[in-house]
Amino acid sequence: MNVLVTGGRGQLGRALARCGAAAGHHVTALDVDHLDIRDPSSIAAALEAHQPTVLINAAAYTAVDRAETEPDAAFAVNATGAAHLARACADRQVRMLQVSTDYVFDGASTHPYREDDPVAPLGVYGASKAAGELAVRLAGGAVVRTSWLFEAQGPSFVHTMLRLAADRPVLRVVADQHGCPTWADDLATALLSLAAQPTIADCYHYCNDEPTTWYGFATAIVDEARKHRTVMCERIEPITTAEYPTPARRPASSVLDTTRIRELGIVPRSWRTGLSAVVAQVLQ
Ligand SMILES: NC(=O)c1ccc[n+]([C@@H]2O[C@H](COP(=O)([O-])OP(=O)(O)OC[C@H]3O[C@@H](n4cnc5c(N)ncnc54)[C@H](OP(=O)(O)O)[C@@H]3O)[C@@H](O)[C@H]2O)c1
Repeated sequence: MNVLVTGGRGQLGRALARCGAAAGHHVTALDVDHLDIRDPSSIAAALEAHQPTVLINAAAYTAVDRAETEPDAAFAVNATGAAHLARACADRQVRMLQVSTDYVFDGASTHPYREDDPVAPLGVYGASKAAGELAVRLAGGAVVRTSWLFEAQGPSFVHTMLRLAADRPVLRVVADQHGCPTWADDLATALLSLAAQPTIADCYHYCNDEPTTWYGFATAIVDEARKHRTVMCERIEPITTAEYPTPARRPASSVLDTTRIRELGIVPRSWRTGLSAVVAQVLQ
């Protein structure tokens, strides 16, 4: 496949470049300085220059809390930018995969979210991503929702926990938000497999297996770090969301149901494999 990736400087953009090349695809990952998805002429020039068969949109405004006070900036990238890309891809018959988020859901569900469950974002970031999803689906592209991404270079929750664990004896981490951490490299491999399928539906969920909480994830991160070096952190205390207020509300449970993508033979493994690889790279 000849794959064009937007957001090439981000966690997923880097993972797509790495995993795509390893799988023998021709992958061009462009950062915002070379392809700004807010600018239709920048999109047209990139599609013309690279003639991709597949475009994966890994570009996004991902500052969840800052989005609350910068809704225009979030919507310009996540909604309007995604719509520009989708129209340009439809015009040129390029298959487009739009990456989206578990934060399109409100987290009140008692079961893992399926692709057709109604979206009800709690914040601006989720709302902007939901608007982007709609535009892409209407233009004939496909959406892949994921959650809690981490990657070797970060920044991510993994990097934050490693930094804090290195110099604080006690960490306090939210234990009442449930979700699935996802290694960007596993997601990248899944996206490339999906892109290679002869026919695909308009929405899939992909996240690593083994739902947990931020507290559970932090505990695993610190345990993993201890395999490589002595850490200052002696104890992790579970706290509630109310004890750690943030500008943007987050879903209480945003576990995604991955049955649909599994039916294509794309079967997520536990996030523990990726965590162990990433911690080893960060601490080496
Ligand atoms: N991170 C998560 O936990 C998470 C969870 C669920 C879903 N997702 C989704 O997964 C996808 C990838 O996320 P990520 O973690 O890789 O995000 P990331 O590391 O923040 O990367 C996003 C990239 O998009 C770039 N970008 C911003 N505005 C742009 C524009 N106008 N044109 C082109 N590029 C632009 C950013 O540029 P700069 O480098 O200049 O900032 C950044 O490199 C996104 O769609 C995100 O919504 C992420």
